[in-house]
Amino acid sequence: MKDLTGRTGVVTGAASGIGRALVLRMLAEDMRVVAADVDKAGIEALAAESSDIAAVHCDVTDPSSCERLAEAAWERFGGVHVLCNNAGVIGRFAPVWDQDPDDWRWLFSVNVLGVANMLRAFVPRLLSQGEPAHVVNTASEAAFTARAFVGVYHASKHAVLAISETLAQELEEQGAPIRVSVLCPGGVNTRVLDAARNRPGSLAPERESRGVAGALRARYGRQLPDAMAPRDVAGAVIDGIRNERFYVFSHPEVAQLAAERAEAVANDTYPALPARLSAALHRDLSGPSR
Ligand SMILES: NC(=O)c1ccc[n+]([C@@H]2O[C@H](COP(=O)([O-])OP(=O)(O)OC[C@H]3O[C@@H](n4cnc5c(N)ncnc54)[C@H](O)[C@@H]3O)[C@@H](O)[C@H]2O)c1
Repeated sequence: MKDLTGRTGVVTGAASGIGRALVLRMLAEDMRVVAADVDKAGIEALAAESSDIAAVHCDVTDPSSCERLAEAAWERFGGVHVLCNNAGVIGRFAPVWDQDPDDWRWLFSVNVLGVANMLRAFVPRLLSQGEPAHVVNTASEAAFTARAFVGVYHASKHAVLAISETLAQELEEQGAPIRVSVLCPGGVNTRVLDAARNRPGSLAPERESRGVAGALRARYGRQLPDAMAPRDVAGAVIDGIRNERFYVFSHPEVAQLAAERAEAVANDTYPALPARLSAALHRDLSGPSR
């Protein structure tokens, strides 16, 4: 879709970070945008910036909430042309054997079922609308790698990549005028490490990340403020939509990760944390501040 002017976008996880930047970039493209999030105050503040932004409270883990979002989008703007399934969370850093059942439930219900619920609510409507449209699913560099202590998150993003590849094939099979992209960012300066702010009270509270896993989390936390700005990721998404690119890499180095995995498979390489990172984490742990 080359010309985005006057089209309608829907963005989940719109109150913060990449989602918020996507809304603002769509606005700059003269689009109308439905900003959806569980953070009601956040999307309402965003919608106050322009009458071309509609705030709709939506919990992507709830299929009926996604249905209501679709109804609201068509009712408010009469159509949808770009759908960004962007809401996502990261949980406690810990070995996979020490992840609580509720850690798995929460992450998979937002990151994986959230995408599935949105596709169920929107794709049939997009198909009957019959106009050119584009679906963007936010995965991550975590879709191409597996990193110790963040296994639940990485597993969920592998699933988003697989769902996106599947969806693209299925729409192509139907001859539908709907393209698909999967957004795979590296580090972006957002509130993602503070995702537990949205963890439902019905789940057991998140336990603290400890030991080497805790050191990895702390390291990510120190790096994030210097990471890419969300608006640059939004720019890559718009470019990907215009050029009908399936893999959207805001960070060019992420494209190499798939090749590195293929090489590891071909060479039968046993998985390990990079030696320098492992050494740094152990240094962090034994450092004077701990
Ligand atoms: N920040 C990074 O380094 C990075 C890197 C790769 C991928 N990502 C992915 O980017 C996406 C956006 O994350 P971000 O970095 O902007 O984080 P963020 O925490 O700043 O924004 C995430 C948004 O999702 C919303 N959200 C959480 N649970 C929800 C639910 N159940 N229903 C609807 N909305 C919900 C939050 O309220 C928040 O506004 C996520 O899918 C994340 O996994 C982030």
